[in-house]
Amino acid sequence: MAELTLVDDVAVLKVKYPPVNALGSAVRSGIVECLQKASVNPTVKSVVLCGDGRTFPAGADISEFNSPAKANKSPNIIEVIHAIEASEKPVVAAIHGTALGGGLELALGCHYRIIRKDGMVGFPEVSLGILPGGSGTQRLPRVTEVTDALTMITSGRPVSAKQALSKGIVDKVVDGDIVKHGISFAKSVANQPVGPRRISDWKVNAPQDVHKIFDEMRRSVIRTSRGAIAPLVCLQSVEAAFICPTYQEGLQREAELMMTLMTSGQARAQQHAFFAERSVAKWEVPSKGVGYKTAKPVPIRSAAVIGAGTMGAGITMALISIGIPTYLVEQNEKFLMRGVETIKGYVGYNVQKGRTTASQAQRLQTLLKPTLDYEDLRGVDIVIEAVFENMKVKKEIFARLDSVCKPDAILASNTSGLNIDEMAAVTKRPESVIGMHFFAPAHVMKLVENIYGEKTSAVAMATVMDLSKKLKKIGVLVGNCHGFVGNRMMARYVTEALFLLEEGCLPHEIDQALRDFGFPMGIFQATDLSGLDIGYKGRQEQGLIGTGNTASARYRNGQRYCPLPDTIAEMGRLGQKSGKGWYNYGKPGGRIPERDPEVEQLIVDFSNKHGIKRRKIYPDEIIERCLYPLINEGFKILQEGIANKMEDIDIVWLCGYGWPRHTGGPMFYAKQVGLQRIYERLLHYQKTFHQSSYWQPAGFLKKMTLQLANKL
Ligand code: CAA
Repeated sequence: MAELTLVDDVAVLKVKYPPVNALGSAVRSGIVECLQKASVNPTVKSVVLCGDGRTFPAGADISEFNSPAKANKSPNIIEVIHAIEASEKPVVAAIHGTALGGGLELALGCHYRIIRKDGMVGFPEVSLGILPGGSGTQRLPRVTEVTDALTMITSGRPVSAKQALSKGIVDKVVDGDIVKHGISFAKSVANQPVGPRRISDWKVNAPQDVHKIFDEMRRSVIRTSRGAIAPLVCLQSVEAAFICPTYQEGLQREAELMMTLMTSGQARAQQHAFFAERSVAKWEVPSKGVGYKTAKPVPIRSAAVIGAGTMGAGITMALISIGIPTYLVEQNEKFLMRGVETIKGYVGYNVQKGRTTASQAQRLQTLLKPTLDYEDLRGVDIVIEAVFENMKVKKEIFARLDSVCKPDAILASNTSGLNIDEMAAVTKRPESVIGMHFFAPAHVMKLVENIYGEKTSAVAMATVMDLSKKLKKIGVLVGNCHGFVGNRMMARYVTEALFLLEEGCLPHEIDQALRDFGFPMGIFQATDLSGLDIGYKGRQEQGLIGTGNTASARYRNGQRYCPLPDTIAEMGRLGQKSGKGWYNYGKPGGRIPERDPEVEQLIVDFSNKHGIKRRKIYPDEIIERCLYPLINEGFKILQEGIANKMEDIDIVWLCGYGWPRHTGGPMFYAKQVGLQRIYERLLHYQKTFHQSSYWQPAGFLKKMTLQLANKL
C-alpha cells in the first residue's frame, strides 16, 4: 500500500492503492512504517511523499466510514499527519491529480508542497456531510487567508494548482514528471531546519475584522445550505482555529464537531449519494441478461441533433464541447438561425467567464454544422431527436432518419416521457433506437436518463451510457414506461400539490415547505420556470382538458383531478416567460416570484365553488402528501424492473430534480423515515383520498415492510 525507494539521498515514499490512493487503514500504517524506515536510514536526507498512478491520495477511504473500527484503527489520519510533521528530515509532498480531503491534510502535514500544474487541491468533505477532520480546518487557515479557507471548506470546491500557489497552500507549481521534481526539490531543502515549516506551530492569519468576516459568512452559509448542516459546522470548525488559544485545542474542537456530523443521518445520506452516483455506471438489465461488464460501446465520432429549440441547442452545445462535430437540423432557416444564436450565446458566455479561450470558441464554431438537409446525416454515428413532445411528429422524424442514416447509426430521442417502442416501431432498426432524456439547460444539467426499449441492443445501451460519461454527465439506464423514472414520479408530486391548493394551501405555502425540506425551489416556482404550457399540452394530448368547469371537472377517468393549472394556462399565465404564472414576475422573463392576489383569489373561489372547506394545512402534511406518493411510485418502478436498483432512482432525483443531497434521494430518505412509517401513512391517505389510486401502497413496499417487521 506504500513503498519506499531510495534515489541518491532522497527517500521516495509512494502510496500505492488504486484507483485513487484513498487513505485506508493499510495505507496509513504503510506510510508510517515507510517514514520510520526513512528516519533511521542515515543515507536519507529528505523524503518525497507522492501517489502512484493517477493521483496523490484523494482523501480518506470513504468506504471505511461505515465501519468505525477500520476508520479509527491506529494510526488514524491525524497520527499519520503528526508523524510526518514531526520528522526531523524534510518531507516534501509532490502532488499530481487531486489532493482532496485527507490527501490535502497529509500534504499540509508535510514541510513543503509542490504540485503539477494540472493538479487540484480541495476539501470536498462538506459534500459528504462531514468536515476535514484530519486537522484540515486547523491547518488551512494557518497557510491561507481566512476567507479562502472558509470558502474552500464550506463550499467543497477544489482549487487549481495556480490558485493553490497564490493562496499559499503550495510552495511551487511544476510541469512534467512530478516525482523527479519532488526529488530535486527535496534535495534543495535537505539541510533546511524543519521547525519553521511545521504548520501546526504557525499562527492563524487573523485580520482585524475576523469576527465580521465570520458573521457575514455564517449568514451566507445559512442562506445557501438549504437545510444541510455540514456547511455551518465546517464554518464553526474553522472558527475554532481563531477562538482556541492553541492548535491542540482547535484540533479537539474539530474532533467534537466531526463526531456530531459523522453520527448525523445527513452524513450517511450524502455518502450514500457519493457511492450511488458511481453505482449507476455499473448498469445492468437482468431481464435481458446484459450489463456494463459485457456490452461494449461503439465510438461516437460525429452526431446530429434534430430541433434547434432550447433542448436541441443545449444538447448540441454539450456535444461540440467534447469535440464531436454535430449537425444541428431544423425545418426552416429562421428556427435554425435561432438555435445557432443560442449556441453562440452559450459559447460567448463561457468566453466572458474565462472558461473558454477565444481559440477554443473558434473551434467550437467549426464543430457546429447547421443544416436544413437530412441528407447531411448519412454518415453520423448518432442522431438525437429533440423536437417538441408529439408522437406523430417524432414518428415522422424517426422514419425519415431510418431511411437516411447509415445502418449502424444510433437513433435517440430526447423525449421526456413518450413511448420509445412506438418510435422504434417505425424504423427497420429498433435495436438501435433508444431514449436520451436530457434536462434543461442540457449543456449544464448533469443527468441523462437513458431509456432502453423492448428491442434496444446492449451495444446501443452501452454507447449512450458511455457518451453520457464523455459528456461529463451522469447517465442512468432505465426501462420504458410513461414518464420513465423521473417524470413518472414527478406526476404524483405535482398532482398532490394541486390537491393541497384546493383544500387550503396557497402556492407560496407549499413552495416554502418544499424549500425548507431542501429543494432549491418549490413545485409552483419550478412549473413557472419550465412553463405551464408544457403540462397543458401534455394533458390536452391525453384528452384530459375541456370537460368544463363543473362539479365533474374535478374527476377524470374515475380519478380525482384538479383543473386549476388548466385555468391558469388558459388565462395566458404561462410562467416566467409570460411574466405571470402561479406567481407574478413583473414582466415577461422576470425571475423574482411575487405572490399574486389574482391567482390566490382564483384558488379560494375554486374551493368555494366546489364546496371544499378550506383548512390550515401544516408543513408536515404538505411534505408527506407531496413526497410519499412519489416514493410509492418509486417502489412500483422497482417492482416493475423499470429501475434496476434504488440508487438509480435516487440519482435521477438528486441530479435531475433538485432533491436535497443531504437526504440521499427519495428511496434513501424513505429508508431513513422508516418503510413501516411510509407504508402506514400511505394507507392512511388511501383511506382519506380513495379517489386517487396512487395512494395504494406498492406491493414491493408492502413486501419489504413485512420482511422488516418479521425480522424484528
Ligand atoms: N474513498 C473510497 N473510494 C473512493 C474515494 C475515496 N475517497 N474516492 C474515489 N473512490 C472510488 C470510487 O468510489 C470509484 O470506485 P468504483 O470504481 O468502484 O466505482 C473509484 O474510486 C474511482 O472514482 P471516480 O469514478 O470518482 O473517479 P474519477 O476519476 O471520476 O474522480 C476523484 C476521482 C476526483 C478523486 C473522485 O473520485 C472524488 O472526488 N473522490 C472523493 C474525494 C473525497 O471526497 N475526498 C475526501 C474524503 S473524506 C476525508 O478525507 C475526510 C478527512 O478529512 C479525513
